[in-house]
Amino acid sequence: MSFPVTRLRRLRRTDRLRGLVRETRLDLDDFVMPLFVGHSTQGNPDLPAMGRFSIDDLVTEADELARLGVRAVLLFGIPEEKDEEGSGAYDDEGIIQLALRAVRARHPDLLLLTDVCLCEYTSHGHCGVIRDGEVANDESLELIARTAVSHAEAGADAVCPSDMMDGRVGAIRSALDDAGFEQTPIVSYAAKYASAFYGPFREAAESVPSFGDRRGYQMDPANVREALRELDVDEQEGADVLLVKPALPYLDVIRAARERFDLPVAAYNVSGEYAMVKAAAARGWMDERAAALESLTAIKRAGADFVVSYWTKDLAQWL
Ligand code: PBG
Repeated sequence: MSFPVTRLRRLRRTDRLRGLVRETRLDLDDFVMPLFVGHSTQGNPDLPAMGRFSIDDLVTEADELARLGVRAVLLFGIPEEKDEEGSGAYDDEGIIQLALRAVRARHPDLLLLTDVCLCEYTSHGHCGVIRDGEVANDESLELIARTAVSHAEAGADAVCPSDMMDGRVGAIRSALDDAGFEQTPIVSYAAKYASAFYGPFREAAESVPSFGDRRGYQMDPANVREALRELDVDEQEGADVLLVKPALPYLDVIRAARERFDLPVAAYNVSGEYAMVKAAAARGWMDERAAALESLTAIKRAGADFVVSYWTKDLAQWL
């Protein structure tokens, strides 16, 4: 039955009516705040969430986030020194390991997720070790798995491999199990695209590759069937959560993941997505809060169960 019997505007007339029929809601429980930790605090006035904290200031920030109701953070470490093998990533006294212990001591309940990757720790900025000018897959797996175990030992609640090497979820699962961490979940960045939207992150994390790019391991933005194969192998290797990244340019991938898999699906609303809105808002071209809430709602509507977003702290104040 159509017009005049059907009038879709009837349910849009008032805020109350719109609230009654709203299909997607934002709940702080579904958001993860990324945080950068380094040897000294360095603010970023244009992109506040891309600033970095010393360990002491990270603990203070964690206190504030917890007070605001944020449930989960995702930690990235920026080491003082980098080398060919990214040894700072799996050093028991590395920046992330120290940060985990410091935050854990004050916050038994705050969920501490860690990014597991070598790129912030290697002198060449790639996500694995280089052999004959290429990132060597199988050799990198051992170092990545060692990194995940050292995060678990230092108190991580879940590890999030983001390197896109083949077989890393399986390698991490068996290394965690062998070390007695069979209860530590793996949130796999299963479909991670070789994206231009990581620009601000790479500045913040000092992980711009010194030669070449990441297209030999991260996914081609043109492909969605291949993303489903990536998700499938990660599920088979034992991933507990499948994450798609970036989020907004890949809503179709999030939707396809949701339809095909019963595992929780997560999305990473990356630095470039955040920076675009910030830049436009700074010029008066957009309202940041409205654009952010619309973006995050769209990511949830597409099918993400939870979202990693630089707006998580703001969201805690907006909701
Ligand atoms: C590490 C990693 C990256 C991001 C998360 N983990 C950068 C990259 O792959 O170059 C990007 C996050 C963002 O842009 O917000 N491999």
